[in-house]
Amino acid sequence: MDTILSVHELHYRYPGPGSGLSDVSCGIPAGRRTVFLGANGAGKSTLLHALSGVLRPQRGEVRYQGQPLDYSREGMKALRSRIGLVMQQPDVQLFCPQVFQDVAYGPTNLGLSPREVRERVEDALEAVGVAGCSQNPVHCLSYGEKQRVAIAGVLAMQPAVMLLDEPTAELDSAGIDALLVELEKLRRNGATLVMATHDIDLAWRWGDHFLVMEEGRVKWEGEHGQLARDTSLFEHLNLRMPTVGPIYLSLVRQGMISSRHVLPRDAGELVELLETK
Ligand SMILES: Nc1ncnc2c1ncn2[C@@H]1O[C@H](COP(=O)(O)OP(=O)(O)OP(=O)(O)O)[C@@H](O)[C@H]1O
Ligand SMILES: [Mg+2]
Repeated sequence: MDTILSVHELHYRYPGPGSGLSDVSCGIPAGRRTVFLGANGAGKSTLLHALSGVLRPQRGEVRYQGQPLDYSREGMKALRSRIGLVMQQPDVQLFCPQVFQDVAYGPTNLGLSPREVRERVEDALEAVGVAGCSQNPVHCLSYGEKQRVAIAGVLAMQPAVMLLDEPTAELDSAGIDALLVELEKLRRNGATLVMATHDIDLAWRWGDHFLVMEEGRVKWEGEHGQLARDTSLFEHLNLRMPTVGPIYLSLVRQGMISSRHVLPRDAGELVELLETK
């Protein structure tokens, strides 16, 4: 398994007592879907910021394709075109007065022609369902629309790695479905996807690789299959099970599903198991 981004004994302290990252080492597998899980304040956003180069570690290293990040102005400019970060708060991410302008900002800085910029912006806004807002002032958007525009801004950059910090927190179900479709298109084209989320059902349905954080450390890193085979890990890691979990376990106990079937990703897969028994 190739690792596209890796973190080595990274240490970062915010001013004030006890918050930040301590001795974090982990890897983001290339071309796959990685999920960051962990309670409020566990350090997920801080780690995503470090992975994107926005936050520079006080000790330790972040490497992209094996090379330590270059924090110079030019280095960061080059990195922006490869690693995209959708921040947790769209208000922090969006800074142009108008939607089109905001999404166009990154692609324009890549030196693309005005026609290419327009195409990318229109495609990105369309993909997240806010094409109709393109001429609107950003401050008039609802919070969910702002989140969609922030995602569009990163999609328009067509990055090799997309880091998404709670991207579905404000989205309605149609918005979540549209985002997942778009992410899958990117992944099929070779992109690497990373998402921090509190939505365990979404994480379970979507993720391949899991990183569980607690108090500024990575507590566990492993594959979907490991958790699917050994559901006791959820309790062990202090994670809530996805909704499908207790139903699956009950059906296994009642002998309605063989325990050789691992925990399915969602209710649809569970129904398939029951019907093919
Ligand atoms: N700018 C800051 N200044 C001081 N402390 C900060 C700052 N940003 C984050 N922290 C602290 O660092 C810790 C980790 O925060 P972080 O935002 O990375 O957590 P998180 O896992 O993303 O949480 P959430 O699930 O609430 O988004 C928290 O204790 C937080 O209070
Ligand atoms: Mg966060």
